[in-house]
Amino acid sequence: MKKIVCANYEEMSAVAAYAVASQIRSKPNSVIGLATGSTPVGTYKKLVEMYKDGFVDFSKVTSFNLDEYYPIKHDNDQSYIYFMKDNLFNHVNISAAQINIPDGECSDPAKECADYDARLEKIGGTDLQILGIGNNGHIAFVEPAESLPLATSVVKLTEDTIEANSRFFKTADEVPREALSMGLKGIFSAKHILLLISGKGKAAIAKKLFDGTLSTSVPASLLNLHPNVTVIVTSDTQ
Ligand code: PGA
Repeated sequence: MKKIVCANYEEMSAVAAYAVASQIRSKPNSVIGLATGSTPVGTYKKLVEMYKDGFVDFSKVTSFNLDEYYPIKHDNDQSYIYFMKDNLFNHVNISAAQINIPDGECSDPAKECADYDARLEKIGGTDLQILGIGNNGHIAFVEPAESLPLATSVVKLTEDTIEANSRFFKTADEVPREALSMGLKGIFSAKHILLLISGKGKAAIAKKLFDGTLSTSVPASLLNLHPNVTVIVTSDTQ
């Protein structure tokens, strides 16, 4: 894994946004894997600026998001579709028909997951995948466990994740207990993965990525097996 150390969150966001914009400029119909959470907010902000400046055009881009809570209404301001519209989709010229995100309102989640993988496979995987990492080492909602899902699946959130994400809800009780999450096969379909890690709070988990071991108790450690991963970290994460 290559590592780029940035002075601060601003710089990390600019470097990541430039990588995404460059991908789209060199291949306008790129398939971009998108992540939610606090970490990529600055990257999306920069991408919106770059779009407004005419540097990047999303009209031919297809997007696949990593995950969505389940169940959750689309108009719940904590749903990931709401987050994506608020932070990116409503501000750039991406076509609604080319946005893919697991449906938190679906009635048959197993079918929704199977269809999601079928669409991703049909298009040939993602060209570039943006990833964050949980404090517990999860990527998407692939949570630490003895065995990890390859396919997009209905997953149970761990207590660590419910606790971490409760900061976005009024109470921890409101955090959905399940999610629809891309599995390792979908994540690894990316030709290039950009893993963003920011802040002191992530220093311990970032260290585990580079300790030369793999463990399903740190799902992100498996990224060491992918041929093209760039980890963009802030210096306080070191
Ligand atoms: P965060 O979440 O960016 O809000 O820290 C990352 C993640 O859980 O993948």
